Order: sequence, then structure tokens, then C-alpha cells
Amino acid sequence: MDNYKLLITGGIPLVGETYVSGGKNTSVAVIPAALLSDEPCTIENLPDIEDVRVLVDILTALGAQVNFDPAARQMYVDPRTVNSFKVPFKQSQRMRASYYLIGALLGRCGHAEVGYPGGCAIGNRPMEQHLKAFRALGAEVEDKGGVIYANGRMLGGDVFFDKITVGGTINAMLAAARADGITILHNAAKEPHIVDLANFLNSMGARVKGAGTDTIRITGQSFLHGSTYSVIPDQIETGTLMIAAAATRGDVTIRGCIPTHMEALTAKLLEMGVQVSDMDDAIRVRTLRGHRAVNIKTQEYPGFPTDLQQPMSALLTRASGDSIVIETIFESRLKHLMEMRRMGARVQIVDQTALIEGVTELYGAPVTATDLRAGAALVVAGLMAKGTTEIYEPGFIERGYEHIEEKLRALGAKIWREPVCDHTDPCAG
Ligand code: EPZ
Repeated sequence: MDNYKLLITGGIPLVGETYVSGGKNTSVAVIPAALLSDEPCTIENLPDIEDVRVLVDILTALGAQVNFDPAARQMYVDPRTVNSFKVPFKQSQRMRASYYLIGALLGRCGHAEVGYPGGCAIGNRPMEQHLKAFRALGAEVEDKGGVIYANGRMLGGDVFFDKITVGGTINAMLAAARADGITILHNAAKEPHIVDLANFLNSMGARVKGAGTDTIRITGQSFLHGSTYSVIPDQIETGTLMIAAAATRGDVTIRGCIPTHMEALTAKLLEMGVQVSDMDDAIRVRTLRGHRAVNIKTQEYPGFPTDLQQPMSALLTRASGDSIVIETIFESRLKHLMEMRRMGARVQIVDQTALIEGVTELYGAPVTATDLRAGAALVVAGLMAKGTTEIYEPGFIERGYEHIEEKLRALGAKIWREPVCDHTDPCAG
């Protein structure tokens, strides 16, 4: 249980300029990829978030020299001193992307012993496609006692994913980068951070072609040199800030983003009647009138991102009319809407579909975040609501949003923290 709660007094339009941090989901793939190099790497534009800090601990425990400067958003990784291929459960369960260490260690030395990953409780989240890819590249893989044991010299091969998986695609890329021979990934995911990982690997001398399409061809290299690489801005933080601007009927310019990564969300906001103006590396979001209800169906990139479904559905609770939200990627990613019922939202949920009946007002209430993007959705709802909303378990939000309270406060939001006293440890005073 977090020892603090987040409070928001809503109804204030967000106005001004803000910036996007480096991407969480790209950073957690690029940092493990540095283990594939034969020389030190410097990774730039990294967000100062919990998931990045966990990876610093994991790589350090493996023996790498790691120096992360959060203020400079820069990380130096020298993998030449790595002397282990084991990531214990107490570390791997601290985040979802710890499973990228399997692909990276297999690619580096042909051995990996990594405890099961943690991550948001948004569904079953199996990883059989990852293991299938490792086996297709020549690894013996055993899943025993909450640990994945993978051993074998990586050989190029064909990987046919039975379903589109971002993590599976990334793990296969990591394992294949130094394999003997050519690997072809079929039915690969196409997210921007997969392209970003390919660009980082290629900057080290790897040969990855086709990232961003459903077929990725990797010609393994026996040597990879060091690189200095800057990760792309966070597509989901960009979208969350766009939604928050629209939700408060504000006027916000978000700098340092990539508008083409936002097309699915931009299209939906325009359909709602929100004004979205794309600039070279910025997006301006304004609202001049009420919001029309729209329907959302999450899809793999370039479809509407599942990670923006939760903040978007918060926005829809106050649209004019009924919206239907269908979550096709994860089985249990609508819990935030049940929390919003306390704030006056009118929602019916059946399996992975929500019918949201727009209301004219939400009201502040105590609510609990159940995962990272649910927390972001509750922040959006709190920014919209009349009165003050208390968000419990806000620690989830810190995993994926760098300095989000400061960014929102700079745009005029009334958002602050207060300690939470639980019955076992009453607050002092
Ligand atoms: C990544 O998760 C992201 N996490 C998620 O973001 C994101 O929601 C997801 O991709 C989809 O874009 C990171 O990048 C760290 P998947 P991942 O493998 O890799 C099923 C956030 O909020 N599946 O594309 O776990 C899986 O259960 C997080 O930033 C299998 O069945 O997603 C899901 O239903 C949440 N077998 C679907 O595929 C497998 O072997 C998509 O999962 C792998 C996945």
C-alpha cells in the first residue's frame, strides 16, 4: 500500500506548454539491448521513472557498469564486466519488461535464468510466444518454478508469432541480433518502440531490416560496437497529456513529441470535436465546444493503442451521448471505469466492452488505481471532476509518467500529495 495519496481539485482548464519525456516502453527495451554490445553505450532522453531505475539495479547486479544520471536523462552502460546471466525473482517481478533480459542474455552469452516478470494486472499476460521464439532460434527453454531457464547458441531461424506481441517481437530481436545466421520474424508487432529498438541495434552495427512492418529480418552479427543513442518520446504520455487537455477544455501545446505516432488518438479526438493541431515536433490541443461521444476499439499499432483506452474512456464519461469502448488486447483493462462510477460516471461493462453514457458532470471522490494506465485515467477524471478527488495507490502512475504532477501543476492543475495513514502505522502527529 502506498504511504501517500494524490489529490486533485478539478474543473480547471489546463493551459500552456509542456513537454514529453522519453518513452517508457522503448527505454525498457533499449536498456537491456545494451548488454548485446561489446563496448560501452550511452543512452539519452531516458525518463526518470521506476521502471528505468529497476533496470539500473538489474544490469548492475549482472555485473555491468551502469551510471544513470536522471537530471541529464542519460545512462552509461559498460557490459564488458557482465559476469552473470541470472535475474532473481525478487528483481524480475518488479516490472513487466524484466523478461527482455532473457532475449538480451541469450543473445549475449547463450544462457539466461530469469524469474517471472511482474507488471500491471490487466490480464493473464502469458509469454509462450517469447519462449516459442527462443526455441526457434535454437534455445533449450524450461519454465520451472517461476523461473525461465534458456540455454543455447543462438542460430538464425524463422519465427512465426501466433499472435501479434510487442514483447515477443522485442525479445526475439534481442536474441537474434548476434545469432549465427539470418532470422525472420513473421507477424511481428509494429509499434514505434520496435522501430526505435531496431534503430538502436543498427546504431551498434546490427543488421535489422523491416522494423515497423509485420516482417522483420535480422542478420546476426558477431561483434557489436558501442553507441550513443537517444530514445523516442513517449507516445502514451503524449496521448495522456492530449486527453487531459481535452478533458479540462483547456489549451495545451505538447512539445517534443512525434505527431505521426499519435494519429489514431488524434483522429478520435477530432471526431469528438476537439481541436488538434500538429506541428513538426509538437501538438496543440484545444476545445471550443462540447465533446461528441465516439466509439473506441483497441488494436495493435497503428490502431487505437490499448494503453490510451483507459485515459480516453475517462474523457468519454463526460461526452454528449453514449460511447462504446471495446478492449481487444487485454482481458481485464476496464476496472478504472468501475472506480469512476463513484465519481458519477454511468458505465455498463460486459466482458471487454464498456457502454459509457455521457454525463454533464463528474464529482470528486476517493478512488483507487489498480494499474499504471488506470491511475492515469483516474487523474484525467479528477482533473474533470467538480470538487476534490483522492487517488489511492498512485505509485502505479510513477512507473510510467515522469514528473507528471509537476507537469500538470505547471499547466494550472491543482494536484498535490498527502500522507496515507493506515491502521497498522498511524501517521505521526
Ligand atoms: C507491451 O506489453 C507494453 N509493455 C504494454 O504497455 C502494452 O499495453 C502492450 O505491449 C501492447 O501494446 C511494455 O512494453 C513493457 P503484448 P506486452 O505481448 O509486451 C498476449 C503500459 O501500460 N500475449 O503485445 O506484454 C497478451 O496477454 C503497458 O505501458 C500472449 O497471449 O504486450 C496480450 O493479451 C501495459 N502470449 C496481447 O498478447 C504471449 O506470449 C498483447 O500482448 C505474449 C502476449
